Amino acid sequence: MEQRFTSITVEDTRELGKQLAGFLCGGDVVALIGDLGAGKTAFAQGVGEGLAIVGPMTSPTFTLIHEYNGQANGTEIRLVHMDLYRLQHPEEAEVIGIEDSFVEDTICLIEWPKIAEDYLPDDRLNVEIHGSGEMPREIIVYSNDSRWEQRLNFLANNRRL
Ligand SMILES: Nc1ncnc2c1ncn2[C@@H]1O[C@H](COP(=O)(O)OP(=O)(O)OP(=O)(O)O)[C@@H](O)[C@H]1O
Ligand SMILES: [Mg+2]
Repeated sequence: MEQRFTSITVEDTRELGKQLAGFLCGGDVVALIGDLGAGKTAFAQGVGEGLAIVGPMTSPTFTLIHEYNGQANGTEIRLVHMDLYRLQHPEEAEVIGIEDSFVEDTICLIEWPKIAEDYLPDDRLNVEIHGSGEMPREIIVYSNDSRWEQRLNFLANNRRL
């Protein structure tokens, strides 16, 4: 099950993140996949906007994990935004407590998730962003878990991209 979107500008990418946020709830894990400068942080910022996060969401490249308080459909949630680019070994993901973010009251966004693959829940949503620079992006949203199917259909049907 996958949905594809085209994003011409960084605002389009943020907007898709914001629209996805409308379908997220506590316990969801979203892996953000793509090369340097693809737009993973921009997408995450859109999700944050959709979850009513107050204040700027900056890239956690150097800090690994940023946490925010937000709201998903009227329910208080914690938003965790991770960037695992700087990890060298999969075990480091365990050391930083990655699994503490896979809990019911938390929505977790992970840039550069590959190194932590073994720790990620199978029912995660994957957002793959292709392209870089000022080129348009192709954004493929998919999951191995059929429980995302309905939400992805809603996202595709409501989209303004
Ligand atoms: N359609 C687009 N979608 C997203 N970003 C775009 C687009 N067009 C241009 N850009 C630019 O690409 C850059 C994306 O930066 P961003 O920090 O979101 O990437 P990233 O994937 O998080 O990179 P990193 O791997 O370094 O964390 C921004 O400078 C943004 O303005
Ligand atoms: Mg980033």
